[in-house]
Amino acid sequence: MNDIFVTRRIPQAGLDLLQSSGVPFRVGETQDQHTLSRDRLLEEAGQAKVILSLVTDQLDRAVLEAGPGLRGVAQFAVGYDNIDISAATALGIPVSNTPGVLTEATADFAWALLMAVARQVPQAHAYTVGGHFRTWGPNLFLGTDVGPGPDGRRKVLGILGFGRIGAAVARRAAGFDMVVLAHTPGSRERIEASPGVAWAEFSELLERSDFLSLNVPLRPETHHIMDAEAFRRMKPSAFLVNTARGPVVDEAALVHALESGQIAGAALDVYEKEPEIHQGLLALPNVVLAPHIGSGSRDTRQRMAKLAAQGAIHHFRGEAAPHTVNPTVYQAGSWRARVQDGG
Ligand code: DGY
Repeated sequence: MNDIFVTRRIPQAGLDLLQSSGVPFRVGETQDQHTLSRDRLLEEAGQAKVILSLVTDQLDRAVLEAGPGLRGVAQFAVGYDNIDISAATALGIPVSNTPGVLTEATADFAWALLMAVARQVPQAHAYTVGGHFRTWGPNLFLGTDVGPGPDGRRKVLGILGFGRIGAAVARRAAGFDMVVLAHTPGSRERIEASPGVAWAEFSELLERSDFLSLNVPLRPETHHIMDAEAFRRMKPSAFLVNTARGPVVDEAALVHALESGQIAGAALDVYEKEPEIHQGLLALPNVVLAPHIGSGSRDTRQRMAKLAAQGAIHHFRGEAAPHTVNPTVYQAGSWRARVQDGG
């Protein structure tokens, strides 16, 4: 078909851009709650020039190899752990993503989760709409102070992963007069140069955080970085917030930490085996769970769609796309051959 294959319906701004640019494109799955089957993905990859993918599409080596005429992948997300980047690079396939435009929305949502779990907002909502609010009560839904409490102690916000989103989460903490600690392997100087943020070793981050926000990408070195040992080091009064990727947390260890009181609560937007959720999490009272909507503001999703579409158009035209995560591919003969062979 030699076109851009958009695996699932993306927000209209992206589709409009594809339309107005005159490139041929098709949308695979048009119903919002449906993902594309692997068989369909394999079949379409074999025919498309470009795949515009979502985080729900597993673009492994087999899928990438299925497309001899594939000249690029445009991912509608900043994270791209669903794509085998080393296979793409070896095959001469550039992969672009959508960084920057979703930073603020995702940081907002990390804070929405943090506040929600600290003050039991979803539980209080369910109680209220359930008709249980009969009288004001001094002991009703007692939460944890996020700003300094009556004792004046400033709370510690720990940020694991001080990239764009981690830094945006940190900026918001100024309004709550928090002490902000951050840790990213290899980024000590950048963290120390950030006003209001102090570097902490990973162990110190775990031990001192009242709220720990995970903002690391999923990589082999961050897989299960939050394991049983990490939870053992945290304070029993601490809360975990994860808007990064599910597999950075060992979910079974998290359930144990929550059940046994090793930590006070967790607010999660992402899961280890999405969309499956560990049964233990579903049964716990001290969690807030969301369906991977961190970047989900209307305006942000439109911007993501446009950026992904722009990437797809560049790939289609055989041009180097901005925000390519494996840019060395443009020097490779295999990429040039793909672009030339396809005409
Ligand atoms: C991302 O961009 O990586 C999000 O998880 C999906 O919006």
